[in-house]
Amino acid sequence: MNATERLNWWQDAQYGMFIHWGVYAIPARGEWVMHQEHIPHEEYAPLADEFNPRRYEPDDWVQLAKEAGMRYMVMTTRHHDGYSLFDSQVSDFTAPKTAAERDLIRSYVEACHRGGMPVGFYYSLLDWRYPAYFRGPEKDPEGWNELVEYMHAQVRELCSNYGRIDVLWYDGGWPYTPEAWRSSELNAMVRELQPQVIINNRSLLPEDFDTPEQHIQFSEPGRPWEACMTLNGSWGYNEADEQWKTPKQVIEYLVRCASGGGNLLLNIGPKADGTVPGESEKILREVGTWLRTNGGSIYGTQRSPFFTSTGMTTLKGSTLFVHVLRWPGRELVVPRIRNQVRSVHMMHDGEPVAFRQKNDRLFLEKLPGRAPDELDTVIVVELDGPPRALDYFTDGWEPHPDEAKADDVPPPGDVG
Ligand code: GLC
Repeated sequence: MNATERLNWWQDAQYGMFIHWGVYAIPARGEWVMHQEHIPHEEYAPLADEFNPRRYEPDDWVQLAKEAGMRYMVMTTRHHDGYSLFDSQVSDFTAPKTAAERDLIRSYVEACHRGGMPVGFYYSLLDWRYPAYFRGPEKDPEGWNELVEYMHAQVRELCSNYGRIDVLWYDGGWPYTPEAWRSSELNAMVRELQPQVIINNRSLLPEDFDTPEQHIQFSEPGRPWEACMTLNGSWGYNEADEQWKTPKQVIEYLVRCASGGGNLLLNIGPKADGTVPGESEKILREVGTWLRTNGGSIYGTQRSPFFTSTGMTTLKGSTLFVHVLRWPGRELVVPRIRNQVRSVHMMHDGEPVAFRQKNDRLFLEKLPGRAPDELDTVIVVELDGPPRALDYFTDGWEPHPDEAKADDVPPPGDVG
């Protein structure tokens, strides 16, 4: 299977659920609490003797993801603190060997498989319990080797014991090199065990996709990417963090990602008992409602060359979706379109929209005075073929569309 084949479903999926969950949900000050408060492992470890999530129902998480319009899930199997939510031969600091007394990853995978939800594993290369991690491979070659062997063994377990895995989402390789982690060897093993799995770039090798974090950055055209973001300011459950994003902000992120040919992986941090914070659920559901009407403008779209002063655009073949995030009133302009426009209509009710073209500018006219959808009103523009965008730098500021360069002109028959 080549990368394009592996990535197909994921690039169409556009929007996934990230889940940060572990014993750090008990102190409820985020997943970095051990490091940030310099808690020795002996003091931290007893959290695992308390961590027994009685209300953990992964089927409900899958259901929530579906209702939110999310099309894959990625869950922490082990974060930097070293607590494995899964059964491991190479660690005793695991869910099955402590209070939870069960493999929390197995039930997650089973719920995903039951629900037809693509399943992803987050896995941290580093483990703060290993002093060698802080000393590094140079100062402590033996300790380092132990850490790397343990990490490789765990990845092997994750890729061997749970059936089909769709996404492997590494983290925590810094500040070392892929050579130090033996990442090529690691990923060769993964590809043998899970030929279809897609792998992110955080084993410090590029692999299948880039992962900008807490910001949206387009990779170069053709290179797959996924922005990961939190719903408040924290990944792991943080009781005091009430900096929630609004549904409109989430939609804007999603549209921005899709307009650049990327995905959005949006995080929830469940509580220690296994329930999802109410506020997270509320935001996700509102976005889900918007997606039920407007999902066609997000899923399966490609990077779009067009933008407007009121928002962004997404693209599917020759269909352009104009996302109006800031309603301009009666008229709206989409510039730089060298195609003939065949028709324009509102996405939510199919009502035709009056339009005219002047050179490269498309004027959408007689629009309602107020936004039909305050969150994001989508206007659907049918082009005469694949998009042809004016580039001010290569084409100049004022070319006439008829002067389009020969290689830009679609083959005869494509033009209506
Ligand atoms: C970072 C953080 C981590 C979080 C992750 C998500 O690397 O260390 O806590 O899991 O990013 O992208």
